[in-house]
This record gives sequence, structure tokens and C-alpha cells, in this order.
Amino acid sequence: MARTITILGLESSCDDTAAAVVRHSDDLNPEILSSVVYGQSDLHSAFGGVVPELAARAHAEKIDICVREALTQSTLTLTDMDAIAVTAGPGLIGGVMSGVMCAKGISAATGLPLIGVNHLAGHALTPRLTDGVSYPYLMLLVSGGHCQFLVVRGPDDFTRLGGTIDDAPGEAFDKSARLLGLTQPGGPAIETEAKKGDAARFRFPRPLLDRPDCNLSFSGLKTALLRQRDQITAQKGGLTRADRADICAGFQQAVADVLAEKTRRALRLYLQENPAVPSFALAGGVAANSSIRAASKKVCADLGVAFIAPPLALCTDNGAMIAYAGLELFRAGARDGLDLIARPRWPLDRHSPALLGSGKKGAKA
Ligand code: KG4
Ligand code: ZN
Repeated sequence: MARTITILGLESSCDDTAAAVVRHSDDLNPEILSSVVYGQSDLHSAFGGVVPELAARAHAEKIDICVREALTQSTLTLTDMDAIAVTAGPGLIGGVMSGVMCAKGISAATGLPLIGVNHLAGHALTPRLTDGVSYPYLMLLVSGGHCQFLVVRGPDDFTRLGGTIDDAPGEAFDKSARLLGLTQPGGPAIETEAKKGDAARFRFPRPLLDRPDCNLSFSGLKTALLRQRDQITAQKGGLTRADRADICAGFQQAVADVLAEKTRRALRLYLQENPAVPSFALAGGVAANSSIRAASKKVCADLGVAFIAPPLALCTDNGAMIAYAGLELFRAGARDGLDLIARPRWPLDRHSPALLGSGKKGAKA
């Protein structure tokens, strides 16, 4: 007999407080019954980045409101849930703790099973929630804090084929936007400027393409942008609108080219596994970028691989992806106790060595 599982999911690892209810019956597609996200960008915009203490306080204030709204919108109550899933890391520890404490409170009060979810697993399993992609598949997770190629074989079975050795692409977009006086988050601001610009005017480097592996680097690209800005400023006393647009276009093209070429290499490696239905999924905030999407899609078309890009609202941080990852883990028998801990770092692939230095700010995995 088909079994229906309903999960409440909580997310608070960075600057979005979110809760959602997801339901799945064995023989149907999973259904998002509600998804509530309280973003904090207004809170942090004046500081040019997420301020962990402010984020933690805002999560603590909003998380129970989010849960209540998610339940109301789903027209269900806690008694209709099978379990409660919560991001237990990696992320900004104060925020992760807000979610974990809230989930523990609900679990203790109701007796609902508790499931700690890796935030990255939430992103990595989203293509199954949105498009029903079957295991295995290759995915590129690109956001403000992450950049990695993952072979996804199960809800707790991931192999990293490569990733960034310094900044994540979203971080590079955000820092570069700041250098050009654009608004935050920098990705959408740079994409808007790039549409008006000439990508061929300035030639930005394509880091690590000389190496055959699937690792990436973006911090040099940001430095190249800074140099270009300073060079023009020294010559003309400042940037014109056209200069800024051309820099943005050149920068975005460089990121798209590097991601596309490394995707080609990662796919070639992945295809050696002979997957029955080869598919590639692109997720994370940077997947919102239309040039990056188009470049990845073309690589997949060249190699005969299905391309999946979840809807944008589910590419950025949300509670539905945590509820869904929790649902798959719950079905596989995972349960956590009230001793569940919040973890600032939590690599998805436990067997691959860390790529980022331990002191790296923003490195979450
Ligand atoms: O996944 P996400 O919401 O949060 C985490 O980092 O976990 O991703 C946010 C990142 C930001 O760095 C933002 O600048 C970037 O995604 N981003 C974009 C675009 N939209 C958002 N980057 C490039 N182009 C975009 N259109
Ligand atoms: Zn995220």
C-alpha cells in the first residue's frame, strides 16, 4: 500500500528564515503544501555582507512565526506531520542553532521524530523534489557560499568531483558588485549591468582551466576586476556607465565560461559510470543567472545529457528543500535525538579531502 509522508522543514543557516510543509505519497510526485521565506537582505545591506549576530537574532525572532505560517498555509497542524526536519549545518552557527532549538522544542512537545538535514543535501536533492530526477545524477551547486560538483546517488550518498579552492561564484559576484558600487546581492546587479555591456571589451582570466581536474577558483577573477576598475579610474578619473557595464559583461562571461568548461570535464568523468539516464542539475542562487544557465545547458546538449534547473524560488535557500531532504532521510530510517547538534561545517562527501583552508571566511563545507 502506498504510504504518505508529511514533513515540516525549517531552514535558518544563512540569511533566510524559512519553513515549509512537503508531502509525498509513494506513487505520486512530491507536493509542496506551503513554503514561507523571510529574507534578511534589508537587515544586512548597509554592511555589505551578512552580519552573523544580526542574522542569528533575526532568525530567533522569526522562526516560530515562519513555522506557524507554513502550517496555516498548508491547512495542516503539527498532528498531521510525520516528522520535523531542520537544517543542522553547515552555516552560520547562531542561525543554525535557532532552527535546531525550535525544531527540538516542537519535537519535545509533540513527540514528532526529529531529523537533522545537511543544508547542502537540501540543495542537492531539490532536482528530485521539482523534477523527479532519479538517482544517480551529477549536480553543480553554485551559490554565495558553495561551489561543488556532486554525484548524487542517495539522500546520504554524495561524491564530490571538484569544487572551489577559494571563493564561491556568488561570493565573487557579491564582492565584485561592491567594488563597482552596485547593490547587494551582487549577482542580480551584475547580471542586469552585463545585459547592457560588451563582454569582449575586457578580457578576464579563466582560472584553473590549465588544470585537468574539476576544481575552480574565483578570487583571482575578482582581483582582475579590481585592477581593471583602478586602471580605468586612473586614466579617466572614474568609470562611465558603459565602462561598468562592459566590466560586468566580461566578468560574467568569464564565470560562465569557467563553469561551463569544468562542467564538461565533470560530466565526462560522471559518464564513465554509465548512468542509465544521464542527467545534470544546476542549483544554488547563482543558477539564477541566465548566461550561466545557458552555457551549462549547451554543454549538456553537446554531451547528450538531460539538463535540469529547478525553479529559481527553489534554487535559493528555502524550507521546502529541507523538508524534502528530511522526507527522503525519514523514509530511509534516519532519526535524530534531542542531542542533535548544530554544525558550522559539515561536508556532504565525507571521504574527499577539504578543498578550502580552515580559516576561510564563508567556507561552509
Ligand atoms: O543559494 P543562495 O540564495 O544562498 C547561499 O549562498 O546559500 O545564493 C545567493 C548567491 C548570492 O551570492 C547572489 O549574488 C547569487 O547567489 N545570485 C546570483 C544571481 N542571483 C543570485 N549570481 C549571479 N547571477 C544572478 N542572477
Ligand atoms: Zn544555500
